[in-house]
Amino acid sequence: MIDVGVSDIAIYIPQFYLPHDELAEARGIPPEKFREGLGNHKMAILPNWEDSVTMAANAAAQLLEKTGTNPQEIHQLVVSTESGVDHSKPVASFVQGLLKIGSRCRIYEIKHACYGGTAGIVTSIDWIARNYGNSKKALVIMTDVARYGFGSPGEPTQGAGAVALLVEKNPRLLSVDTRTNGIFSKDVFDFWRPTGHRVPIVDGKYSVACYLEAMEEAVSHFRSNVGIPRGRLLEHLDYILYHMPFTGMARKAHRHFVDTEHVDLGAEARQDLYTETFRAKVEPGLLGAREVGNIYTGSVYMGLASLLETEQDRVEGKRVGVFSYGSGCGAEFFLCQMKTGLSEIIQGMRFQEQLDRRKAVTFEQYVQWYSRSGAETLYHPAEVEAHKDPFTQFTFIGFKDHKRQYV
Ligand SMILES: CC(C)(COP(=O)(O)OP(=O)(O)OC[C@H]1O[C@@H](n2cnc3c(N)ncnc32)[C@H](O)[C@@H]1OP(=O)(O)O)[C@@H](O)C(=O)NCCC(=O)NCCS
Repeated sequence: MIDVGVSDIAIYIPQFYLPHDELAEARGIPPEKFREGLGNHKMAILPNWEDSVTMAANAAAQLLEKTGTNPQEIHQLVVSTESGVDHSKPVASFVQGLLKIGSRCRIYEIKHACYGGTAGIVTSIDWIARNYGNSKKALVIMTDVARYGFGSPGEPTQGAGAVALLVEKNPRLLSVDTRTNGIFSKDVFDFWRPTGHRVPIVDGKYSVACYLEAMEEAVSHFRSNVGIPRGRLLEHLDYILYHMPFTGMARKAHRHFVDTEHVDLGAEARQDLYTETFRAKVEPGLLGAREVGNIYTGSVYMGLASLLETEQDRVEGKRVGVFSYGSGCGAEFFLCQMKTGLSEIIQGMRFQEQLDRRKAVTFEQYVQWYSRSGAETLYHPAEVEAHKDPFTQFTFIGFKDHKRQYV
């Protein structure tokens, strides 16, 4: 039987964060709105000497190291991002150079808002299944800095980070049978960033509505693909990971899931089912969204890292439903069958350690960093050397002859 999926996972979280209480105070907003309403406590802040390339390379370097993978063994390198650094040269090429990945490797960048990572994973799985006899490996990376306008409703949902996955046959972490994936897409303007704009244009409330419609449709498609009747899917899932631009979105999504999948139940029974299943099946995946914020393409996969970190070996052998959404819009609902013997993979992520090592920045520091384009700066390597830590191996130092320079 063909068994393809993800063998290992690594995550990279920047060294700095802004506490939401400080943002709330500066913006004159009650802190409860961010803490309870949106459900976010801290947002990762990306300093000017990091970008989507360095975060991707910092995540992938950990992945190669923890799996003992020789960079020459990677035959497909896909980087999904909506924070690209060049209109032509893909982030994947920079990562190839930094990680010394060989030339007999197909590399490319995928853009589809927050959904791009899922496209990278699914196409890599299908490519490996097609080459089953040849033991191909794919490195799939999701990397983004989620930026919104100063003072906009999206500002408290910012974040930054990268997730790297090793996709291969006979995977050690989880399997995915992509033939059953539930799919939905539609041409909408809910969140977009016209060429040249530094921050997106967002119709926030509409984007939530688009997300929920896409979820309902993708879930329904998945159910019909696997032959599960409406109202019975929840009992087949041990956990559900929703794309999370902010933690509260998982609450909205799960409520919609229960309301639309269990239309036969009365309001009170639905409320009980929601409360019980949210706590057991959804809550364990929220750590990253609460502590880091939105990381766009990597968001739902940071949810996977959060689930592993929170549940540890309790996830072994479990079935995890994943809902991936990207504005514009594209969505997919699929099933991950978790493997056993995962403790080394989970410990090796060092996720909590990365969260604990971070330093808080002030509101003023955040405004200063996010007001600069970074393009005008050429950092001296010694300047960024001071900020190296076990997780931040690569840094951006500026441009030379219109070429981005990294150390
Ligand atoms: C999500 C988004 C639209 C929210 O915008 P907003 O104008 O701040 O929204 P609200 O005023 O509805 O407040 C958000 C929540 O905080 C709650 N809230 C407001 N004030 C509060 C307070 N003082 N105490 C506790 N909760 C409070 C609101 O009730 C609301 O919760 P609910 O949605 O469960 O009802 C905005 O953050 C955004 O545009 N984000 C970017 C786009 C995005 O992430 N889209 C998601 C789909 S991809």
